[in-house]
Amino acid sequence: MALIECRRLTKAYKKGDAVITPLHELDLDVEAGDFLALMGPSGSGKTTLLNLIAGIDTPTGGQLRIGGADIATLSRGRLADWRSENVGYIFQLYNLVPVLTAYENVELPLLLHKLSGKERHERVQTAMQLVGIADRHDHYPRQLSGGQEQRVAIARAIVTDPRIIVADEPTGDLDAESAIAIMNLLTRLNKELGKTLIMVTHDAKCATFARRSLHLEKGRLVEAGELAERRAEESRASRAQAQPHAQTQGALA
Ligand SMILES: Nc1ncnc2c1ncn2[C@@H]1O[C@H](COP(=O)(O)OP(=O)(O)O)[C@@H](O)[C@H]1O
Ligand SMILES: [Mg+2]
Repeated sequence: MALIECRRLTKAYKKGDAVITPLHELDLDVEAGDFLALMGPSGSGKTTLLNLIAGIDTPTGGQLRIGGADIATLSRGRLADWRSENVGYIFQLYNLVPVLTAYENVELPLLLHKLSGKERHERVQTAMQLVGIADRHDHYPRQLSGGQEQRVAIARAIVTDPRIIVADEPTGDLDAESAIAIMNLLTRLNKELGKTLIMVTHDAKCATFARRSLHLEKGRLVEAGELAERRAEESRASRAQAQPHAQTQGALA
């Protein structure tokens, strides 16, 4: 059985008389230890899907089983407990608390767990060392670069040792070099620590770090073959448009 099983998973909102369906009857299996990149245009439902898998949001239809638990049916309280045990979330803009130091930001999720002060300290140290930010304990977010802030945010996401890590455009605000460093770090979490990763990205280069990529369009998954056919069509269309221009250039040469 897959770690994450989505069956006809649906999320819909009512807006007056209209219904918006960011996610429409989506079927998806994610095995334990997978590293999945989710791509697709803006508004295609990527964040909606991540939020459902992370237990931040609840579906309006279909089933969502994670590690055997039917998380769509948990009460708000049980869902919050489940989330803090099982999921680490990484955001595009880091979402660090500005008035807390790097250390305190990483420690935050542990305050929901019953641990001694010593255990907590050890966990924070380990997470910060793992992401290579142990020398920045006392820095505030504003004193860190974007890449460093994202490392702190990753340490915060892994400090509770969750099975699943979801990342919503984790490199979307970073320069190319920092983005690659973050992707190498996420790859290590997957390969060395066995974390199951689901990452939304717009960047095809970042997606190559994942074990597989899926594309969403209008709340539905698009098959690889279908996508290839559409890309081929697009490129035929753009070549057809470019043709007259090329001929003009030829005539001028
Ligand atoms: N709380 C909400 N109420 C109404 N519509 C929403 C809500 N959240 C998201 N949507 C709509 O769902 C669609 C998908 O959004 P989202 O999952 O954020 O897309 P993506 O992350 O792929 O850009 C968008 O059209 C968005 O406007
Ligand atoms: Mg989004």
